[in-house]
Amino acid sequence: MYYADEIIEEIRYSNDIVEVVSEYVSLEKKGRYYFGLCPFHKEKTPSFSVTPSLQIFNCFGCSKGGNVIQFIMNIENLDFVEAVKLLAEKANIILPETGAGISEDELVKKKNLIGINKEAARFYYNYLTAGKGKEALEYLSARKIMKRTIKKFGLGLSPLSSGLLLKHLNDKGYEDRLIVESGLAISGNNGIYERFRGRIMFPIFDIRGNVIGFGGRVVDKSKPKYMNSPETMTYNKRKNLYGLNYAKNSGNKNIIVVEGYMDVISLHQSGIINSVASLGTALTESQGRILKKYFDRIIICYDSDAAGKNAAMRGLDLLNDIGCNVKVLEIPNGKDPDDFIRNNGADRFNNLIEKSSSLAEYKIRELKKNYNIETTDGRVAFVNKMAAVLAELDNKIEMEMYLKKLAGDYGVSEESIYAEIIKLKGKAAFSPAFLKKKTDVRIKTGTFDKDEKEIIHDELLLIAALCLDNNVYGLIKDDLAADDFTKDNRVVLKRIFERLNKNERVVAAEVLSSMSEVSSCALAGIIDKECNFDDGRKPLDIVTKLKKHKLMARKKEIFEILKNRESLGEGDVEKFTRELNVIVMQMKNSEIKTRKEGFNEAKR
Ligand code: GTP
Ligand code: MN
Repeated sequence: MYYADEIIEEIRYSNDIVEVVSEYVSLEKKGRYYFGLCPFHKEKTPSFSVTPSLQIFNCFGCSKGGNVIQFIMNIENLDFVEAVKLLAEKANIILPETGAGISEDELVKKKNLIGINKEAARFYYNYLTAGKGKEALEYLSARKIMKRTIKKFGLGLSPLSSGLLLKHLNDKGYEDRLIVESGLAISGNNGIYERFRGRIMFPIFDIRGNVIGFGGRVVDKSKPKYMNSPETMTYNKRKNLYGLNYAKNSGNKNIIVVEGYMDVISLHQSGIINSVASLGTALTESQGRILKKYFDRIIICYDSDAAGKNAAMRGLDLLNDIGCNVKVLEIPNGKDPDDFIRNNGADRFNNLIEKSSSLAEYKIRELKKNYNIETTDGRVAFVNKMAAVLAELDNKIEMEMYLKKLAGDYGVSEESIYAEIIKLKGKAAFSPAFLKKKTDVRIKTGTFDKDEKEIIHDELLLIAALCLDNNVYGLIKDDLAADDFTKDNRVVLKRIFERLNKNERVVAAEVLSSMSEVSSCALAGIIDKECNFDDGRKPLDIVTKLKKHKLMARKKEIFEILKNRESLGEGDVEKFTRELNVIVMQMKNSEIKTRKEGFNEAKR
């Protein structure tokens, strides 16, 4: 989804970067700058700076930099759209949700529903910790849940009888109609009553930390054990994962997906914060895609009862289909992660993580339980099924690796599995061409060479110079066009030129919004470190250098063309030679021009 530039810009300048950063970093003012310890790498002396006048941040240590949106993207591990949403919420700006087709009225309603949930979470928390929560607190403490965990997850307690929460929400100005819509109350024959009564409450957060729904657990053995908010405008159980608001910041490439609230809470309390619960049974495709955005590998850890297994199986294929790297963690003796950690500690759980199986291994292990491989018939049937699992792998190396391992593990010959795979898959999958294709792609996407790196850097310097003094445009507009720049910068410069042509102002913090992570960090660093244009010389030098780059590139091209003189017509040779001469002259001239004129003169 894309938002209009204007709205992104409104959100950016409505969030002062010093204020936003201060929520995460303690900043100290020094002259024009604020300094603090960088939140993106470990350090003892501050190298992280915020420049309020330019609304940018930059770290000399780790080279992270950008505007307020990029700060939020980095610190909260959000993508651009999510970061914009978070900042919009902070500044009370309503974003048009073009894709969802939601009207403004509905957006206001959504905001109120989130408000109701937040108030309810507060109410439940207070009721547990400062109200009638003695029994519930004892229950939690028997399950080894600590005070700080209760606080971190905002656990609460709903009163045994209906009324108190409703009154609290009414007092805050929320109408019954909306409370029913939030799912916290149900409309019955005798008016409305609260849905959750006498339960330990688990607020469910979205990725930005809004409370979007609740789960509630009984404290005794009564049924149902858990009750959840119904689907509402804010809560969609297929699209949310419990604990993701914390897990996304874990910095871990692996995510452990468990079944229950208590499993997540237990794992987080033991320091394993890269874990979430799928809040239902099988993982959905939307959940898979969200996880893929933040993590490289998904480790499924479902209960080893039949329901858990079936759920795991379904989830695994689905995740595999959308391109996730999936592993399976099985807990011995049918325990769930919470039981296991309580009895064995986090270290032993970490051992299990290391020993988790790949999708193919897991499937085959499960398959084996259905066959008696002591008999010939059983073994043949098992080998056939095993081959079918392996044939689904689209990586030859992986396939061969398993072939070896499984043949050894299950006492069948490599050849017999191999023969079956070929039967299922056909020969094509094993041709060397299959591997070659992958290698070629890797070579093509290699990094830039040294010259190109320097050119990109100079282009960014130009962007910086243009942003800091829009008049610099006058120096280049006749000689350089957007097409003269490298691919990434071309788009950015095109937008800048368009604006400047219309005499509209261009500022650095806005330009940063439309740049890639790499470019924006580089630009923020350049602005901070290399742009003290007191004498006005430097922008001119940059412009000269870039013009030269352009001429040099063309010169190289012509040399190449002229190398194949024989294939050119007589007229062409003459044409290119003339162009070459002009280029050489221009390069000389530009040097003379730079020596003669100062930047101030060019500005006039
Ligand atoms: P504890 O007994 O508190 O440790 O819960 P658990 O997480 O071990 O429970 P279980 O493995 O039985 O269930 C896993 C998850 O399924 C829970 O966290 C709930 O999200 C959901 N769940 C369990 N029981 C119910 C139920 O009765 N109704 C509903 N709607 N969901 C349930
Ligand atoms: Mn449990």
